[in-house]
Formats: sequence, structure tokens, C-alpha cells
Amino acid sequence: MSNDRVIIFDTTLRDGEQSPGASMTGEEKLRIARQLERLRVDVIEAGFAIASPGDFEAVKTIADQIKESRICSLSRALDADIDRAGEALANAAQGRIHTFIATSPIHMKYKLQMEPDQVVAQAVHAVKRARNLIDDVEFSLEDASRSEMDFMCRIIEAAIDAGARTINIPDTVGYAVPHEFGTHIGELIARIPNADKAIFSVHCHNDLGLAVANSLAAVGAGARQVECTVNGLGERAGNASLEEIVMAMRTRKDLLNVETNIDTTQIVAASKLVSSVTGFPVQPNKAIVGANAFAHESGIHQDGVLKHRETYEIMTAESVGWNTNKMVMGKHSGRAAFRARLEELGTTFSSDAELNNAFGRFKELADKKHEIFDEDLMALVSNTRAEASSDQFHLSSLSVQSQTGETPNAQLVLQMGGEELSAEAKGSGPVDAVFNAIEAVAKSGASLLIYSVNAVTQGTDSQGEVTVRLEKAGRIVNGLGADTDIIIASAKAYLHALNLLDANQTKAHPQV
Ligand code: KIV
Ligand code: ZN
Repeated sequence: MSNDRVIIFDTTLRDGEQSPGASMTGEEKLRIARQLERLRVDVIEAGFAIASPGDFEAVKTIADQIKESRICSLSRALDADIDRAGEALANAAQGRIHTFIATSPIHMKYKLQMEPDQVVAQAVHAVKRARNLIDDVEFSLEDASRSEMDFMCRIIEAAIDAGARTINIPDTVGYAVPHEFGTHIGELIARIPNADKAIFSVHCHNDLGLAVANSLAAVGAGARQVECTVNGLGERAGNASLEEIVMAMRTRKDLLNVETNIDTTQIVAASKLVSSVTGFPVQPNKAIVGANAFAHESGIHQDGVLKHRETYEIMTAESVGWNTNKMVMGKHSGRAAFRARLEELGTTFSSDAELNNAFGRFKELADKKHEIFDEDLMALVSNTRAEASSDQFHLSSLSVQSQTGETPNAQLVLQMGGEELSAEAKGSGPVDAVFNAIEAVAKSGASLLIYSVNAVTQGTDSQGEVTVRLEKAGRIVNGLGADTDIIIASAKAYLHALNLLDANQTKAHPQV
């Protein structure tokens, strides 16, 4: 690999999933992994194998099936974690174990309650153990941006001697600023005697909104791997956004002098898929993937773009996959075309029954909506799968009355644990009335944290994709629902969230 190539390490499925409410099913993770492979991401961090049996299965399935990208599992610097990661990656065509330990004084003293010497010994032991299982081992210094330079040099040199091929310097708490972070990366590479035996990587969080800027400063100083996520998803304020990093390197190649292997035309599809699966909408003014990112509103700008595009555009919408919207299907499209298009979008069906169910929904949608776009198909599949995985609550029927001067009223019938129950409630608006009616039956006691509606495509016949985020006893879940009727979509999303709360999904967090 040439020295000016930057490895793109995507951690949407691991750090991205650590966003409150962003947990994904194994099937959803595989769908995203397929899109990341299409995007030509170099490394996919598929999860934290020891976190739960579900996480282990997800990493294993992705490692078994994705062959073009390298598949990685996170592990703390603990024997059991490393062995579990190795087991999940056993069939990977290209696998990597990513092991980490905290190195800042504050983390070592209060979190680990270990002396620095013990931390070095544990790191070396972990890297060696991982190298006994797999050739490609990455070692991360958690909270590196608040760690002491001399100590980082010492532990990194020891980790490289023990066999780590990639050394990752995370700004775990999003504390760094670009010129300082770049200087630190340059100093580490210059001071560590065996630095040439490893690739230096960075992993920046966005607490101060500087994750992308810090990552680019690190690349300028010699880092050759960047860890990032689609849409900047991730713990707290998120991680550096993949699309911004990649497009900055491409657009300012004149200055940064590096390139990636990414197929940028797959960026928008990846963004939409991650947004639809997690229920985290993309803000309209988000760089690269926001709906307004290439929209010129002011007359002066429009005039300039029409005369010569580059007056106001530094990259084209097409280069990141906008404007590829196709009217893919309509009501006369058949099952084979439906399946083929979804396969192109990264979705495969596990059985004929599943295909038939989704195809039935497609026909219903095509009756209501003339033109069916890729986004419609993706929302439809996410919604069908959300409902299929919902065991406890199902919506049988819903009727809502909303009229000027009257309090909205909802009546519904729910299937709850096999029993049919009906309820009626009023609310400040029709959605509020529906949620009150559901709660009258379900009595979940959960708190509503977020309610959002997103139009899947343009026009008033668009499907509305609704996200409902509920919290109960410290557990946060995101329910999704899609329908051309946004009140029905809202009810579906609320019920999906209740079903997720109901499911037993305890799993370990790597950094706790
Ligand atoms: O932010 C962080 O430090 C991490 C590590 C586990 C790499 O996510
Ligand atoms: Zn992180």
C-alpha cells in the first residue's frame, strides 16, 4: 500500500451502535456491512464480540459473509474478550482483533485502579494473546488525548514489539483541538523507535465538534488510518463522520496529498441506510449527506451555478451518490424485480415467507403511491422487519378523529401477548392521543424521549418514517415505523419501541 493511502476503518456497527438507542439487530448489521463493503471501506469494526451472544453472532455472521473488507472485533485487554473476538473471526477472509486499555492518569487511577507499569504489562499480554489467534492486531490507548507523552511512547513501543500492526490514538472524550492533536501524532511517530513497524490511526469523538478537523490534522502529521462512522453516529456527540473525512481528502487532495479506496458514489446510500435502520434522522444542513447539502437557495448562487457549476460547488452531488434516485418500481412490478432491486440495495431475504410478506407490503404501498423509490423500499423493509421481530404488541386497527375546535381522539385495537385489547384516549394532537391510547393498554411506564417524523421521499404522498425513542429503567430504545399515513407510522413506531423494551437485550459496554 502506498504511503499516501489512508485506511478507512468504519466503526458504525460498534461505536455507532453505542449511541443511546442505536442498537441494531444482527440482520440490520449485516445489511449495513454489505453496504460498507460496497462503499469499499477497508476495515469494518463489526462489534464487540463479548458484549452479548447477539453481538458475537453479528460479528461472526459478518466475518463469515463479507470478504472484500477486513472484519474487526473490539476487545478489552482481557483474555476472555480476546478469545471471544478470535472465535467470532475464525472464518474471516481478513480479520483483525482490536484490543484497548486506558492510558490517561485519570482513567488508570479511577477507572482501572492500576499502576502504569501494570497497564503496560496488561497491554503487552493482550497484544501477544491476540497475535496468537490472528495476524492483524490493533492496539488502542483509550483516552490518549489526555495521556502523558512519555507514557504513550513507552506503551506504544512495547505494543509494537509485542506484535501490534496498528496503533490507534483515540480522542475518546473529544477533548483535542486540531493543531495540538496533529502535533502529538507527529511527535509520537518521530519519537517511537519502532514506529515504522506499525500504521498510526486516529479515532476522534465530536464533543467539541472537532472530530473531523482533528482527524485531518492527524493525517497531515502522518496518521494513515482514520476511524469514523457513517453520519458521524457514535457515543455521545458521535465520531468523526466518514463522508466528511473522505470527501475532504478527495476535494483537498491538492493540500492533503492522500487518497482513500472509497467508492464515494455509495455514500448517500450508506447514509440513508444507517439513518433508516437506527431511526437517527440526518439534519438537512449536514455536510455531504444532508438534504440541503447541494441545494442552492439564493438567487445569486443559483445564477452562478447555472452559468458555471464550480462558482459555488466544490464537489458534485453525483460524486457522493445524490440524484441517482430512480423510479424503480410501480404497482405492476413483479416479485423477481422486487427481490433483485433489494438485493442490489444489500437486502436478502432469509425465506420465501419473508419475501412474500415484504412483497405484499410493497403492493399495498404501490396502490397508495405511484412512484416507488429506493428509499421507499428500504423504509418498507426496515418497517416489515421491525414488525416481524416484534413479539409482544401488534396493531390490529386504529381510528383517529381530529377536527378544528375539538380534542383529538384515538381508538385502537392491539394484539398484546396473543390477546386482543381495545382502548380509547384523547390527546393534545392526534399522535399524542394514539400514544395515550397505546399506554392505556400497555401500561409500560416508559418515558418518551424523542418523537420525529421524516419524509422518505419528496411529495405529500411520501411515506413518513417515524422514530420513537423510549426510556425505561436506564434502557433506551428507538422504535421505527413507516407508512404513507404518519399517524399509523407513529403507532407502529411506538409499538416497535415497546417491543424492543420488552426484549431481553442486556449487553456489556466496552468502556464501562
Ligand atoms: O473512543 C474510544 O476510545 C474507543 C476505543 C475503544 C477505541 O472507542
Ligand atoms: Zn470511541
